[in-house]
Amino acid sequence: MISLLHVSDLHFGPPYHPEVGEAVRKFAHRLRPDCIVASGDFTQRAREEQFAEARAFLDTLPQVPTIVTPGNHDVPLYRGLERLTDPYRYYRKHISKTLDYVTEIPGAVIVSLNSTAPRQAITNGRIHRWQIDLAREAFHGVPDEVHRIVVAHHHFAPPPDWEGADVMPKAKRALDAFTAMRVDMILGGHLHRAYIGNSLDVYAGADREHGIIIAQSGTSTSRRGRAREREKNSLNVLRLGGGVIRITHYMYFDDAGDFVPTSRHLFFRRGRPPLLDDAKEMGHGIESIFMDDRREVRAAGAAAPGAGEG
Ligand SMILES: [Fe+2]
Ligand SMILES: [Fe+2]
Repeated sequence: MISLLHVSDLHFGPPYHPEVGEAVRKFAHRLRPDCIVASGDFTQRAREEQFAEARAFLDTLPQVPTIVTPGNHDVPLYRGLERLTDPYRYYRKHISKTLDYVTEIPGAVIVSLNSTAPRQAITNGRIHRWQIDLAREAFHGVPDEVHRIVVAHHHFAPPPDWEGADVMPKAKRALDAFTAMRVDMILGGHLHRAYIGNSLDVYAGADREHGIIIAQSGTSTSRRGRAREREKNSLNVLRLGGGVIRITHYMYFDDAGDFVPTSRHLFFRRGRPPLLDDAKEMGHGIESIFMDDRREVRAAGAAAPGAGEG
């Protein structure tokens, strides 16, 4: 079982909320995850001191593999010359030397792709063909039981309940390619509100049997929350294993002074539970979930004969 803490959009600078940052730090130490994903927008204005603060914060988290990716706020918006000539200077110095890279942990291969496009699409981002090729190479030959995860700041699939969340150009091309690679899940940020769902909810694609789980984290430590998370902070905790991916969305509440779980999402890996014989082989966890569902279906049928027809 892998436990993963997913935070995003820390936005060090004026919007950063130190009290909530401290709550994230304590939460992370209580959780003791196997790995941490921080999906971009570490700073508000890509200033060096903001990156230094973000790095100091990351260094206080549990020292486990931490997967990062830059966000549109991590490249200078107003310093035009720097944006054109050396946009990742401070990001590379303080957060990560590499922008696109692969991390392997027991049970998962995680590909981090830089979706920022400082010279073309500053806000909406972009994923290039060579980055898709990089992911394909990383996932090539990975054993079936190992989870395949992509991390990028910008979203490939807009939340179905929020109009106006423009996706990256050519997002569908990327989703089709990731589907062919049997990617289990994409983690991102940028929206400043959580969205946990399935790529098939918004884009049917070519293969309706393999949806990709989408887990967007809200802003974990800034005052820039949007839509239903306006002025709110959130993070996600993921547990992967036994053929099941469980994602719990936590929000910060002032009266609790802590992050509190607000919803839980359970996905069968590969879109459905295995058939019963396979489930037995996969161990107790998935079998019990599967059997619980079977019992529920049977109980419902017994209570209401004939129900479910039509
Ligand atoms: Fe952001
Ligand atoms: Fe962003």
